[in-house]
Amino acid sequence: MAARLLPLLLQLGWVRPGACTDPPGGGWLAGTVPEEQRCTVERADASLTYSLFLQRYGDPAQSRHPRNRDRGRGTVPAFRALCTREKLLAAFGPFPVRLSTANTYSYRKVDVPFQEYVEHLLKPQDPARLGSDTLYFFGDNNFTEWGPLFQHYVPPPFRIPGTSPAYSFGIAGSGSGVPFHWHGPGFSEVIFGRKRWFLYPPDKTPHFHPNETTLAWLQHTYPTLPPAQRPLECTLRPGEVSPGLQGTPGVPARAMGPHWWLLQVLYFPDRWWHATLNLDTSVFISTFLG
Ligand SMILES: *[C@@H]1O[C@H](CO)[C@@H](O)[C@H](O)[C@H]1NC(C)=O
Ligand SMILES: *[C@@H]1O[C@H](CO)[C@@H](O)[C@H](O)[C@H]1NC(C)=O
Repeated sequence: MAARLLPLLLQLGWVRPGACTDPPGGGWLAGTVPEEQRCTVERADASLTYSLFLQRYGDPAQSRHPRNRDRGRGTVPAFRALCTREKLLAAFGPFPVRLSTANTYSYRKVDVPFQEYVEHLLKPQDPARLGSDTLYFFGDNNFTEWGPLFQHYVPPPFRIPGTSPAYSFGIAGSGSGVPFHWHGPGFSEVIFGRKRWFLYPPDKTPHFHPNETTLAWLQHTYPTLPPAQRPLECTLRPGEVSPGLQGTPGVPARAMGPHWWLLQVLYFPDRWWHATLNLDTSVFISTFLG
């Protein structure tokens, strides 16, 4: 394979989480949308150093490929513990969230109380419904009202010089997602649920209708694509407790413990086309490097 910069699935392993008493999946509903047959996004483990990352991605204009990496931080389980359905409803139920239409150019915005969103609007995607008629909660977060949550988030440790991070947090039903679009570089992380990603390089505009949902695109367009025209794809999952990191290159020995928090982060490079599809009801956060 040519030595092109790719999207990256980062995997970082660390620190044992607190007591894992939360309900499986955080109390959010699992879905039935399938994963890809094979993840084609390049993967890096904890041995990818910041200097190597910078060497490859430090100039956003040269960042040409998304990647996925596992990472870990001690406070991540704390953020996750706050993101169960029960905890979020108890803490933020009355606060408004701003919903956008789930199409490429999301024109319409609607404010509803978080509790109303979770109890009445957060449903599996109707495959027959247009993205332009589907409301989606991602971004437009009020960091004052939701400060007690975001203060616990530990962003991916890698920075790109000359950029500053901005968070977008969201929760959406299985089968929902955002159709193909592009913007600057950043990281995506799933706290609960699973999120399938489809990515094309900036010079390879995918065939899609901006008002069609990613689910409809997957059902109707994706099967017609010859293998050479398929996107890079991978399903991003939340962190998990893993006892299996002993001997992993790059993990400091002093950090070894009986249980590790293995976390996955997807790096999407500058201007890459991407579409997302939540396989389960998912809680997710992106760090945009603007
Ligand atoms: C965020 O919430 C604060 C406190 O309720 C409010 O004063 C402010 O107007 C909100 N900001 C936006 C952009 O809605
Ligand atoms: C997408 O939907 C919006 C809102 O219904 C509409 O205004 C727009 O013309 C549609 N775009 C296309 C390309 O069909």
